[in-house]
Amino acid sequence: MSDALVLENLTLAYGETVAVPDLSLRVGRGELVTLLGPSGCGKSTTMRAIAGLLSPRAGRIVIDGQDVTHRPPSRRNVGLVFQSYALFPHLSVYENVAFGLRLRRTPDLAARVAAGLRTVGLEAFADRRPAALSGGQQQRVALARSLVMAPDVLLLDEPLSNLDARLRLEMRTELQRVQRETGVTMIFVTHDQAEALALSDRIVVMRAGQVEQIGTPEEIYKAPVSGFVADFVGFEIILPAPDGTGARAWRPSAVVLGSGPYQGHIRGVSFAGARRDYVLDSALGPIKADAPAEAPVLAPGTELAFALPESRAVLLARVD
Ligand SMILES: Nc1ncnc2c1ncn2[C@@H]1O[C@H](COP(=O)(O)OP(=O)(O)O)[C@@H](O)[C@H]1O
Ligand SMILES: [Mg+2]
Repeated sequence: MSDALVLENLTLAYGETVAVPDLSLRVGRGELVTLLGPSGCGKSTTMRAIAGLLSPRAGRIVIDGQDVTHRPPSRRNVGLVFQSYALFPHLSVYENVAFGLRLRRTPDLAARVAAGLRTVGLEAFADRRPAALSGGQQQRVALARSLVMAPDVLLLDEPLSNLDARLRLEMRTELQRVQRETGVTMIFVTHDQAEALALSDRIVVMRAGQVEQIGTPEEIYKAPVSGFVADFVGFEIILPAPDGTGARAWRPSAVVLGSGPYQGHIRGVSFAGARRDYVLDSALGPIKADAPAEAPVLAPGTELAFALPESRAVLLARVD
């Protein structure tokens, strides 16, 4: 069985600006793969190319075994959900979801729209206009509108970024459920590592248009390959190895406060609910640490010893 999507040595550019120099990636059927990386690293550019909205300078895009590199968007069976829902304001929820099916003259339209609305839990809202829906509900309409087209690949470009924190969490769970129920192949884009870790089968960490690391959420979380990835997944203390080859990284929770070979003094403390976050100044540079909120507070200026246990370090091939 062929992969759902194959990107082969893609070069993507805007005029003189090469946003993605050479990207290769395989996505299996029914997989949810996340492109994770900071703003400007080429995530949306990659999505545009898969959707057919941007022609590659070089390379191939294969969907479901077919080379679609030079096909227009309308001749690729790819769905696209953006951060802005882009619903038709004058049409009902039902008509918004039915829109693409009408263009295709789908015979079982009513049944498919009903199934789409059921999947996203909006059966009761079929007659409403988008303006009478919350942001989360509007995003569900956008999702249903794409799902009813039964795309080979569904692209979701920061679809949760416009929602408030609670709705984001809710929609994250919702997306996961929809993906499991429908089995649709999804490429999800985010700059939020927690979102990527929670949702993905695999994560592609991107940096300046290049793949920095590909792995399962656990692999990325436990074994980042570089300082860049490590920092992204919370290993905020990164020190070059003494012999100059590679580096070691720790999470703030790994720092032992009160004993150890290093001396520091507390520069700042902030309350973070279950724990307190500290910044220490030391000969190693600023060190982030945390301690359970029940532990006595260490006031700014306090001098103390600390340790960075080897057993809690990850080894990185590169500092940056
Ligand atoms: N329409 C455009 N014209 C020129 N440069 C662009 C355009 N869109 C994006 N870029 C550039 O391409 C790079 C990648 O952008 P983008 O794919 O939007 O990043 P991301 O989605 O990861 O934030 C950035 O350097 C950005 O400035
Ligand atoms: Mg983007």
